Formats: sequence, structure tokens, C-alpha cells
Amino acid sequence: MTRPDPELLAAAHAVLIQAHAPYSGLRVGAAVRSAAGEVYVGCNVENAAFPLGNCAEASAIAAGVAGEGQGFRIAAVAVQAEHADGTLQPVSPCGGCRQRIREFAVDGAIPVSFPWSDGALKTLQLDELLPYSFELQVRPGR
Ligand code: THU
Repeated sequence: MTRPDPELLAAAHAVLIQAHAPYSGLRVGAAVRSAAGEVYVGCNVENAAFPLGNCAEASAIAAGVAGEGQGFRIAAVAVQAEHADGTLQPVSPCGGCRQRIREFAVDGAIPVSFPWSDGALKTLQLDELLPYSFELQVRPGR
């Protein structure tokens, strides 16, 4: 197991109160540390037309791209979640967000931290969460 990043976990927890989650009642906060050392946060943003909602990880990645542009790369990720009544919810990045993280990850060994249902804080490498991840082989001229 890789080491968690306490500052990143605290940032993910601090932002989840901002979530717009009137449908699920689940507030999720995500924080990513860029290779440049900056921390970017995001929360989930739901929509009455349900498929239009954004996950917290997607919001944090959008903030990172807005902040650093083409050079943005992710060195570490943390996620936290709470129900509206303040109780902790075990969470891990959904399948789609694992691929979103992969798009910007420095490599497959970056740590991803999240609270799990056994009460433990998990810190896994991205490759453990998303083995055999999809990577587009760009074919110029087509
Ligand atoms: N959610 C996230 O923001 N990140 C995850 O990794 C899992 C799920 C959000 C989506 C939705 O707004 C709410 O949690 C309930 O599914």
C-alpha cells in the first residue's frame, strides 16, 4: 500500500460541503495534487436531468486543467464522502472517474486514497484500481 497524503484528504473533506447533491443526498469531495505541486478540489454537481451530473473527481480534474492547461498531470488523488446528515460514506472513484484520472496521471503508480467500508483508509495505486486501462493510440492523418 502506498502512503496517503494528509493535506489532500483534508482538502477533499473540506470541499464536500459545497456539493450540489439534492437527489442522492451524498456529498462527495475530491482533491488532486498536480505534478507541479498544486492542489485542486472539486465536488459533485447533480442535475434534475440525472445523467448530466458531475462526479467530484471530474470537477477537481476540470479545475486542474483550468489552472495548468496542457501541462496538467496528476500525482495523487483523495476522495471523501458524507451523507447530508454528516455521516461518513465509504467511497471510491467510480469506473468512469478512474479512466478520467488515468488520462492525466503521471503514471499508473500514483496513490488514490479513500475511506472504505471496513473503516480503513485505503491508499491504492491507480493501476490496482484500473488494470488494463484504455489508452488511445493516436493515428495521425486519419
Ligand atoms: N459520486 C462522485 O462524485 N464520485 C464518485 O467517485 C462516486 C459517486 C457522486 C455522483 C452522485 O452525485 C453521487 O455521488 C451519488 O452517486
